[in-house]
Amino acid sequence: MSPALTTYLITGASKGIGLEMTRQLIQLPNVRIYATARNTSALDSFISELPESKKAAVVPLKLDIEEEATMKSAAAQIESSGGAIDYLLNNAAYSSDRGKVEDFDPEVAMKYFRINTVGATLVMKHFLPLVRKSTHKTIINISSGVGAFEAGSPKPPGTVYYSSSKTALNMITAYAVKEWTDVTIALITPGLTKTALSGGMGLDVDESVRRVLKRVHEVKKEDSGSFWNAQEGRIQGF
Ligand SMILES: NC(=O)c1ccc[n+]([C@@H]2O[C@H](COP(=O)([O-])OP(=O)(O)OC[C@H]3O[C@@H](n4cnc5c(N)ncnc54)[C@H](OP(=O)(O)O)[C@@H]3O)[C@@H](O)[C@H]2O)c1
Repeated sequence: MSPALTTYLITGASKGIGLEMTRQLIQLPNVRIYATARNTSALDSFISELPESKKAAVVPLKLDIEEEATMKSAAAQIESSGGAIDYLLNNAAYSSDRGKVEDFDPEVAMKYFRINTVGATLVMKHFLPLVRKSTHKTIINISSGVGAFEAGSPKPPGTVYYSSSKTALNMITAYAVKEWTDVTIALITPGLTKTALSGGMGLDVDESVRRVLKRVHEVKKEDSGSFWNAQEGRIQGF
């Protein structure tokens, strides 16, 4: 008997960790991946190169984290096709400008918070009904160790916008855990990974994503509210 269908929604699937998650997940039997991006052209070419037997497993959807209407539209498309989301992989994020508290620029700060905090929260909000309809009912917010407050967590120079936008997402996640007790919600940091966001530093993206997905599939209901470091295989403090 083939395994039951397992469904994933990934944000930021155009490149980096999101695209690699899509690539690795389609190797699993009986999956459907709602791969979302603000521009789906990279996904279209990725799908065109897949073997025929795998093509239907990836459903590309437009979703811009800065445009709430695109979240509602993607959710409506999944809903109208009778779909659900077992694993919401809330992955898209922005990191570009360097910044110090001394030079704090409100416009730059608002862009970080609009994408990494507010956008990621709206993704949880708009896809929650579809997560609730699924079997696994799991939301994974991809965060970062630099957003952690635990003693000794790194505060790399110049990352004040990015780090604080992730810290805020961590706190909102903690509130969601309290509100949505029927859903499993965890934070995972992939750790430093060779992508555009890290400037090409860190672990190779395929190995990093293997560790992230291992953790995604190991998270259980009692792990709701936990923050995992996938690379080091340990709980990361908030
Ligand atoms: N790489 C690391 O070392 C590292 C470490 C810790 C945590 N993380 C976390 O891992 C996740 C993935 O990062 P990554 O390293 O894969 O970064 P990346 O290669 O820069 O990819 C970021 C993804 O987010 C998407 N994105 C950005 N703004 C968006 C918007 N407004 N709407 C929709 N999508 C948007 C990008 O889409 P476009 O192609 O359209 O720009 C891209 O698909 C992030 O949450 C990041 O914070 C990464």
